[in-house]
Amino acid sequence: MKRIVVLVSGEGSNLQALIDACQQGRINAKISAVFSNKAAAYGLERARLADIPAHALDVKAYEDRTAFDVALADAIETFQPDLVVLAGYMRILSAEFVQRFAGRMINIHPSLLPKYPGLHTHRQAIENQDAEHGTSVHFVTEQLDGGPVILQAKVPVFAEDTEEELVARVQTQEHNIYPLVVSWFADGRLALQNGQAFLDNNPLSVQGYAED
Ligand code: GRF
Repeated sequence: MKRIVVLVSGEGSNLQALIDACQQGRINAKISAVFSNKAAAYGLERARLADIPAHALDVKAYEDRTAFDVALADAIETFQPDLVVLAGYMRILSAEFVQRFAGRMINIHPSLLPKYPGLHTHRQAIENQDAEHGTSVHFVTEQLDGGPVILQAKVPVFAEDTEEELVARVQTQEHNIYPLVVSWFADGRLALQNGQAFLDNNPLSVQGYAED
């Protein structure tokens, strides 16, 4: 069975969706460990409740980003993961870290990439009066939120929406599409080749997989 390591910094609702999907057999893989850069991240507690090893690394204990990322990558590799899943991991990754897990690391970002990389995506969508917003699962490359998209989900933006309402609407979709994409990877259907994402050997478009 394939092994997954998940990185979190906060609430861990996407981690929970992945735990549930593994337990229910919707993902044919095992979450071997969860790591965080924040000891207080509730995601670590979710892992412990599911009997998954949960570890926090203290950023302050390391000289710089490179040293922290080397320690984190070494710790992750003790679990020999087939896939590293970033689930609300709010720390910029060094190029060395990204290269070490190239082709086997994915992220979920709350926007319809390439629109709105970075922070405060929901606020920007509201302020710009966008008709739709959403979320993207993508392979991680050295470009922040810039790797090839695998799958997106769209939600409407209503004129009276608060940021919290839009966050919640997007997260409902995240909890559907992230387990689905992880299941594709676990089943050997997903690959990154020459900077492009492939599903079942078919190249995916800029928006990722879209059903007709
Ligand atoms: C998600 O909305 C994800 O798109 C972003 O961070 C959030 C994490 O939420 N990268 P949670 O910790 O999974 O609840």
